[in-house]
Amino acid sequence: MKRANFGSKIGVVLASAGSAVGLGNVWRFPYETGQNGGAAFILIYLGCVLLLGMPIMISEFIIGRHSQANTTGAYKFLAPNTHWKWLGFWGVMTGFLILSYYSVVAGWTLEYVMEALLNGFTGKIPSDFEASFVSFSQNPWRPLLWLAFFLLLTHFIIIKGVEKGIERSSKIMMPMLFLIIVMLVFCSLSLDGSEKGLEFLLKPDFSKVTSGTFLGAMGQAFFSLSLGMGCLCTYASYFNKNTNLTKTAFSVAGIDTVIAVLAGLIIFPAAFSVGIEPDKGASLVFITLPNVFQSAFGDVPVLAYVFSLMFYLLLALAALTSTISLHEVATAYLHEEFGFSRKKAAWCVTGCCLFLGVLCSLSLGVFQWFKIAGFTFFDLFDFVTAKLMLPLGGLFIAIFAGWFLDKKIVKDEMMTGGGVSVRLFMAYRFVLRYFVPVGISAIFLNELGVFS
Ligand code: PFF
Repeated sequence: MKRANFGSKIGVVLASAGSAVGLGNVWRFPYETGQNGGAAFILIYLGCVLLLGMPIMISEFIIGRHSQANTTGAYKFLAPNTHWKWLGFWGVMTGFLILSYYSVVAGWTLEYVMEALLNGFTGKIPSDFEASFVSFSQNPWRPLLWLAFFLLLTHFIIIKGVEKGIERSSKIMMPMLFLIIVMLVFCSLSLDGSEKGLEFLLKPDFSKVTSGTFLGAMGQAFFSLSLGMGCLCTYASYFNKNTNLTKTAFSVAGIDTVIAVLAGLIIFPAAFSVGIEPDKGASLVFITLPNVFQSAFGDVPVLAYVFSLMFYLLLALAALTSTISLHEVATAYLHEEFGFSRKKAAWCVTGCCLFLGVLCSLSLGVFQWFKIAGFTFFDLFDFVTAKLMLPLGGLFIAIFAGWFLDKKIVKDEMMTGGGVSVRLFMAYRFVLRYFVPVGISAIFLNELGVFS
């Protein structure tokens, strides 16, 4: 079967970065940072990106491009008649669960687009934003409508195909998002009392570090870089032989990390400035940001209007390029492994995610009382996928690429499209084979209390 391809080099980087950059950077990174004490968490996070994320991203690229198949197909091709195919299946399941609750938050961004469009932020004070977020997210209907709308939007882009849908949307939206985020950093830093937020972000307090900080940082690194579930592996199956995998991995991780840190630089100075607790959790971004627009441009309402509208639109688009990548993993799997037409495959994924997404959304409102192991559905999906399933998937991907995959394949894939120095190749192999498996296992064991 002839497979689709990304059309250009920049398209490759932008599509992968489009998957990586999303709510994970702007919504999840600040709230995890806030709940884990700030700067020390960020340092550990950066360590996880570099030492765990990078080698795994390169490995996913190698697996995907060499096999030119969806995630399970890739393992069937590279390790026929073995159990490795289950690693692909694990990825499909993980993506499916992430898409279900991620689309709920993506739907919230659309509510905020609407609010911005109707000038709903004007004249409000910080406590109003908090109250309106609570009443919106607990409303039984509105979030569900946005959830359905967002999933359908993803669905229709998915069935339009890889190049047209994914590549084009990423090319325009990524640079624009970057520009507006940089501008908002300046706005946020100019607010009264913002220094405290800066200190929270830059001055590490290691006394706040616990085993949960490591697990949180590792999970956030996997989530934000779209790693551990074969998403970038599926994208790499659309790369051509001219793509330099290592360079692409560094560009994607670089862009993703810069955007996450910039998002932190918007959220925390603003949160401290208006007196919102940094450990507020999932609502942090949604109650902090509207304040930035109001406080920074309060004197010039037109600017407040234009910038808030643009910001939420771009955030929704960033979320969209991520939901597309999540959806694509499961759709490509059903299409290629079960012979479903792409349309039918996509409908199955959309339908099931909608069902689970509804449960997640309602678990923040009318079903708040229903808890499993102390978690609402929404929190459970987030915890299980980001902190358990992705790192476990990453662990096995590292073992597969480091110990099972033919070294010649790994080397050939890394050397095409410009290649890397032998030293870098050796460093990659070493870190992948030894450091990554030991590091991920140690973080899990630490969380289980084995070392304390
Ligand atoms: N990386 C995306 C974000 O930060 O928003 C979320 C995501 C996309 C996670 C794709 C995993 C994935 F496979």
